[in-house]
Amino acid sequence: MNQSDKEMKVSVFIATSLDGFIARKNGNIDWLMAADSSDKSEDYGYQEFYDSIDCLVMGRNSLEKIIDFPEWPYEDKRVVVLSNTLKEVPAQHVDKFEIYSGSLKELVKRLETDGCKSLYIDGGKTIQSFINKGLVTDISITKIPVLLGEGLPLFGKTRRDIKLTHIETKTYPSGFVKSTYEMVQ
Ligand SMILES: NC(=O)c1ccc[n+]([C@@H]2O[C@H](COP(=O)([O-])OP(=O)(O)OC[C@H]3O[C@@H](n4cnc5c(N)ncnc54)[C@H](OP(=O)(O)O)[C@@H]3O)[C@@H](O)[C@H]2O)c1
Repeated sequence: MNQSDKEMKVSVFIATSLDGFIARKNGNIDWLMAADSSDKSEDYGYQEFYDSIDCLVMGRNSLEKIIDFPEWPYEDKRVVVLSNTLKEVPAQHVDKFEIYSGSLKELVKRLETDGCKSLYIDGGKTIQSFINKGLVTDISITKIPVLLGEGLPLFGKTRRDIKLTHIETKTYPSGFVKSTYEMVQ
């Protein structure tokens, strides 16, 4: 059975360097911003994907990168931040996100019960945790033609081989290559 036969979608939509990093070791994504600015008219399917999700689950490190943005970018979505260290949502972000610490299976069940149909999972460690728990249904990776040599990896250790079904690959004039996969159970 493909995971897509399940009711709830739990999706990863992310960009990596050609050598598989989502950020530099210090979390910097300047290389992504620089590559992206070459074609402002192309969003590589991000808006369509974003419109299709109703809830975002991200790690605390990812939150820290966006919390200083002049505007909260996820105004119309429920956002859950995974953290064992963050105890309170800062005053200026009350109502913007909730903090969760605990079982990811329980979290997915809870969100499903609350009516969420499509989750967006973001942040390297967070994605790895969801994959290792067998909770991800599909992954879209946009490969940026740059080698960073080192950085924060998208993927990490797995407890077993995890098979995926290739759905499609799109190439863009910018050199970006987006591949979509469904997880096989
Ligand atoms: N290339 C892209 O498209 C892209 C997309 C998103 C993010 N990024 C970049 O990726 C970096 C963040 O990724 P990251 O790998 O460092 O971490 P992350 O997944 O964003 O955050 C990891 C943190 O989440 C908390 N956490 C709690 N429970 C967890 C669980 N079950 N599984 C995983 N995390 C849990 C922990 O925080 P506590 O220590 O508080 O417990 C952990 O340190 C940022 O630099 C961001 O800019 C890039």
